[in-house]
Amino acid sequence: MLGRIQGEIVDKTTAEFGGSDRPPRVPRHVAIIMDGNGRWARQRQRARTWGHREGVKSVRAVVEESVRRGVGTLTLFAFSSENWRRPLSEVSVLMDLFMSTLRGEMRRLQQNGVRLRVIGERSAFSEKLQRRIADAEDLTANNDRLCLQIAANYGGRWDITQAARRLVADVQAGRLSPASIDEQSLAARLAFPDQPDPDLFIRTGGEKRLSNFILWQSAYAELYFTDLLWPEFDAKAYGQALDDYARRQRRFGLTGEQVQAREQTPPHAMATIDEGR
Ligand code: FPP
Repeated sequence: MLGRIQGEIVDKTTAEFGGSDRPPRVPRHVAIIMDGNGRWARQRQRARTWGHREGVKSVRAVVEESVRRGVGTLTLFAFSSENWRRPLSEVSVLMDLFMSTLRGEMRRLQQNGVRLRVIGERSAFSEKLQRRIADAEDLTANNDRLCLQIAANYGGRWDITQAARRLVADVQAGRLSPASIDEQSLAARLAFPDQPDPDLFIRTGGEKRLSNFILWQSAYAELYFTDLLWPEFDAKAYGQALDDYARRQRRFGLTGEQVQAREQTPPHAMATIDEGR
């Protein structure tokens, strides 16, 4: 916990100040529930699926703004484990859109230095889609400006369950003793253990729910809800969410005064304080 707090503060105070006298506080990881495509299309007397197609433009805008602002990881909820219950025609449009977007956006992702990764139970997808995902991941594997994670057939409870299954397998194989199981050992078996936990969790579309998105990892995330429907969520709207985050004080259980004292302490002194020296 302490290391985490220390990491948080030190990361921010060592970030570039961008001309301001305060650190810019760019979230290291932003997670977004892209909600409202169907309603946006319906308001325009169009099929819901048209809203999904238009939603791709917002995906592009948010990815590029993330690169511009220096966000390290962006996770987008494209298809939940529960979305299979939608009409077959809508599911099939979403799958086609996923395929065509993967194909159409590769050059742009490469130009922007974006590494693509898909998180979720991908065995449910067609072999062709699975191959395209694997190819896109391979092709972008060395890009390091932004890690773009597309959550597809993903659910937060699925993620925790598959981590628990891996823990049990390691115990049965004798690689882990039950007594040594702690938060870290479970977290290390979740879908993206190499990425920081989300700092900012955004949901568009007016609902105020987590909808089984990244549950464990979002334990300390700042929540941001907007009534804008996903196709309306452009670079400016995303920038406003990032600016709102920058103004928040994250306490991680500390008092406001403790956090302020930490923020005013240079990073090298912070390390000394946290180590109890
Ligand atoms: C929720 O809106 C949105 C989805 C289930 C799909 C999101 C997909 C995209 C934005 C396009 C594809 C994205 C990628 C990354 C290829 P909803 O249909 O539930 O909206 P509603 O609440 O208005 O019905």
